[in-house]
Amino acid sequence: MLRFDEFVDERLYSADHGFYELGGQAGRARGDFVTSVEVGPLFSVLIGRWLDLVWADLGEPAPFIVAEAGAGRGALAAGVLAARPRCSAALRYLTIERSAALRASQQELLDERVRSLAALEQLDDAHVVLANELLDNLAPRVLQRRAGGWDEVWMDGSAERLIALAGDPLADGGIDASEIPVGARVPWVEQASAWVQAAMERVATGRVLLIDYGTATTGELVGRPFIRTYRNHTVGHRVGPDTNAVDITVDVPFDQLPRGAVLATQAAWLEGLGIGELVDEGRRVWTERAHVGDLAAVRARSRVGEAEALCDPKGLGGFIVAEWAPGAPR
Ligand SMILES: C[S@@+](CC[C@H](N)C(=O)[O-])C[C@H]1O[C@@H](n2cnc3c(N)ncnc32)[C@H](O)[C@@H]1O
Repeated sequence: MLRFDEFVDERLYSADHGFYELGGQAGRARGDFVTSVEVGPLFSVLIGRWLDLVWADLGEPAPFIVAEAGAGRGALAAGVLAARPRCSAALRYLTIERSAALRASQQELLDERVRSLAALEQLDDAHVVLANELLDNLAPRVLQRRAGGWDEVWMDGSAERLIALAGDPLADGGIDASEIPVGARVPWVEQASAWVQAAMERVATGRVLLIDYGTATTGELVGRPFIRTYRNHTVGHRVGPDTNAVDITVDVPFDQLPRGAVLATQAAWLEGLGIGELVDEGRRVWTERAHVGDLAAVRARSRVGEAEALCDPKGLGGFIVAEWAPGAPR
């Protein structure tokens, strides 16, 4: 038997048959799921704008060290550099990617300006640690509520059945049990929480920025299929013996992460960074150049559709953006 998080970790990252080592990745034609990064260049432009705000806020440090975790094939890194934010000359961009296969594939998009690390532990200090859709891929434990405590969910030896066994994994606290009825199962994102804590310890006065799908509270996940699987752009919710070469993810309960984050929906956060004005500019360029039909016109037109996808409240726009500023006065 394997504890649920051990089962997921093995299926996603095992060196010889893990989903991410066998070529699983974000992307359209060659990918298994589409992230905000893969919608088009607009998301990276806006991340660049946010980096400029942080850079200014920190007094324009040079070098300005930004580490992007769960960087996959490096599309966000490439997009930010191509967008040439104001901080470009000072920017030292690092990627952190657990999958050796994906680290190797970053050579297609990135040059020697970007250093690649395999784990957060290899990072010394940074001004910013950021990640898009990393937390949902840090293997969760699953707990089942019982009167006065919790049982833990395990996968049986043949991966046929999930079994809840007595134990008191949460004896020290970690989930607000008051909202969880007896018998309900919820994820416990112990690994994600420890990862965020470790990221905060590396940024001193800087920022940790994490964007993902999930809910503000654990209670909101009761009765919802919080485990999602992805393969070839098909979403599922069941894990079993045939869950091979499939992405297994969890809706992230943000209340289980370290305290102090400012939360916003992705739509609201991108509005605050000026996505609206970039779309207006795109519409204007398209109107002026549609008859020319050149690359500038097509890019401008595409920006409108990208913004719709990034801000759709039923999709990417409903994702949660969490920003920690550990050194800021409260
Ligand atoms: C859902 S993908 C997101 C890719 C990309 N950020 C995007 O938005 O398109 C998650 C990525 O995180 C990586 N990953 C998982 N655990 C990690 C860890 N502890 N440190 C760094 N990368 C990790 C996975 O290998 C995978 O490439």
